[in-house]
Amino acid sequence: MFKFIFLLIFFLTKFSYSYSNSWFTSAADYDSSKYSNLNYITKDNIKNLDTAWVYNNGHVSDRTKSISNNQSTPIFTGNSLIVTSLDNFVIALNPENGKEKWRIKLKSPTAKRGMTFFDGNIFVPSLEGVFVINEHSGILNNTFGKFGLIGTGDKEISLVPPIVFKDKIYIIYKTFLSSHELPSGKLNWKLDLNRARVWSGISFDKETESLVFVTSNLVNLLGNTKIQNDFSNSVIVVDSLTGKLRCKFKDTIHDHWDLDMVGNPILLKKKNQTEKLAYAFSKTGNTFVIELKSCKLKNSDSIKKIKTSNESAIKGEIYSDYQIEVSNPVNLMNLKYNLEEYLSYISKDKINLEYVKHRTRNTKSDSSYIPLSLNYDVIMLGLHGGPEWPGGTHDKLNNQIVIPTNHYPWIVRIYYNCCSKKKVSEVKRKFDLSLRNLTNLKGFYTYQKKCKSCHGKRKNGFYEPEFTGDKYIPSLNGISTLKKFESLKDVNSFNYAHKYSSKIKINESELNSLRKYFTKRDNYLLENDVYRIDGRWQLLLDKNGNFASIPPHGKITAFSIINGKKNWQIPFGQKKYKDNKIINGDMNFGGLLSTKGNLIFATGTTDKKVVAIDALNGKKLWNKQIEFAGSSPPMTYYYKGEQYIIINSSGGRYYGYENKLGDAIYAFKLL
Ligand code: HEC
Repeated sequence: MFKFIFLLIFFLTKFSYSYSNSWFTSAADYDSSKYSNLNYITKDNIKNLDTAWVYNNGHVSDRTKSISNNQSTPIFTGNSLIVTSLDNFVIALNPENGKEKWRIKLKSPTAKRGMTFFDGNIFVPSLEGVFVINEHSGILNNTFGKFGLIGTGDKEISLVPPIVFKDKIYIIYKTFLSSHELPSGKLNWKLDLNRARVWSGISFDKETESLVFVTSNLVNLLGNTKIQNDFSNSVIVVDSLTGKLRCKFKDTIHDHWDLDMVGNPILLKKKNQTEKLAYAFSKTGNTFVIELKSCKLKNSDSIKKIKTSNESAIKGEIYSDYQIEVSNPVNLMNLKYNLEEYLSYISKDKINLEYVKHRTRNTKSDSSYIPLSLNYDVIMLGLHGGPEWPGGTHDKLNNQIVIPTNHYPWIVRIYYNCCSKKKVSEVKRKFDLSLRNLTNLKGFYTYQKKCKSCHGKRKNGFYEPEFTGDKYIPSLNGISTLKKFESLKDVNSFNYAHKYSSKIKINESELNSLRKYFTKRDNYLLENDVYRIDGRWQLLLDKNGNFASIPPHGKITAFSIINGKKNWQIPFGQKKYKDNKIINGDMNFGGLLSTKGNLIFATGTTDKKVVAIDALNGKKLWNKQIEFAGSSPPMTYYYKGEQYIIINSSGGRYYGYENKLGDAIYAFKLL
């Protein structure tokens, strides 16, 4: 009898570990709901919500070396809150006061986008696979895999939480998936995604034995999109037992614009229905709804093909003659940038207007999915979403999905890069590649004296990445074959091109020799195929450093899972411009949590706030300033009679966020 009770207690705790005492994986559960049944904190008492404790892990990333923040939502074991640090520690905290219980150092990157707790162990993705840590001792659990490490042996990073279920683990590496037996770690199967990457978390449906996830584009803006029917930019359903593909649906075809699919697909059943559905999101604003048993698209009726240009100006590049647009669930994004509308929006500010006109003088933005070219730049929205990797939350109480989005402009630039190292050495073997001899000497010296300081020795210019700003100095390689060459036509054109950058004086004769110099050099290097075509995207900012598009630049949208229509939409976050104007709706990279208290918690905006929103109408009910911007979706747990809200506060990586990165975890409770 005693033994029976013991076993009963054992199974009950085992059960509660993994499911009832929820938030066992970074997206809450394997449906990736980011929803909690807890309803201690409600609309009525939220005014009493305040800081319970703040924990600092002690390691702040050095912005000058690597701009990384903590994107791993903590998990709850029932006894401890498990957090991570950017110097690769997994740390157990006392849920009541945030005091450290233990910490263990693993390999980089440790739990980049989350981890999973199952059956007394913490499963942490990292370099080479998944480490298994005993919840109580905080040391590697040797009974699993090779001294507590499970993986295929490949040196490839796993970024997102693994799925652990019964006696199997599913590991998601950057470009492949694998399944292993537990505890041995023996490999069951491996599925290669052919360079498509899994940045966001993966979901799992145990009824249909399905693993559901989305993939990125193939790294570059160029040359990587030969096949249409590959794994990139897709939502993918895999049979967890065999590793066989069950179905996949592609969003952007031949993606040249970095329009990844993003976020953990949300799995759910509609009220009183038996079908299990997966909702998968894309930066394009499209949402796919898949019925998991049949692996069929449920919303194919609302998917429209839109005609796009398939004429590439760049040799060898393939473009699709159509892309798709989903209207139900409601589309979350408009990729098209409207330059005219924006210019009229800023028309009163003549100085800014002039600046933006200059900045956009050689661009195209008249439709979505414009082919890229060496001769013009493309302006569009969407490279940071629409939706982004934090994805949405399934607010079960109100039968809706709530999801944050970004809306600010990008300028996509293609240019000749000098020089492919291999080619240079080949050419050097044939000739003496002393460009001085192969070019116009006067032009060469003029370049050295008057242009090199900005456009660079190799003439590659400078394209500031989105982490710090939008500084742009064009590459001058190949320029004699491009439209840009017109800027060297005469002194006026030269001066106009440099209106905001250089006061350098130049005369017609110098320009003439520069033209000869560029032409000879280009002829030689193009003939020998030494240039490489590259692409970069940059933020498009106005003269004051603000996003050059009409706000809001960030939104939260709630849409009904019953009819796919929008329930409400609000600007997310606030930004104070230099002229003290307040702009509603800002860039955001945090995420959302929904609770049975009829609340949505949101974070990740540059104003460094956590806000609580009425789930029924989007009304803001509560907010709190934190030291560093929220950096992953919030989570919640219940411990010793109280509900806690947890915010990962480590700052933002992109231009627009404060420079300072942090190491904090904030816990809020009713005081
Ligand atoms: C102080 C830095 C600086 C110097 C010096 C400079 N440039 Fe530039 N140049 C720029 C920047 C910045 C731009 C981009 C302006 C823009 O489009 O916003 C630019 C643009 C250009 C363009 C492209 C214009 C277009 O229409 O797209 C050409 C061509 C060019 N520079 C050639 C030269 C030459 C030749 C020299 C030397 C005689 C030179 N630049 C000196 C900074 C510089």
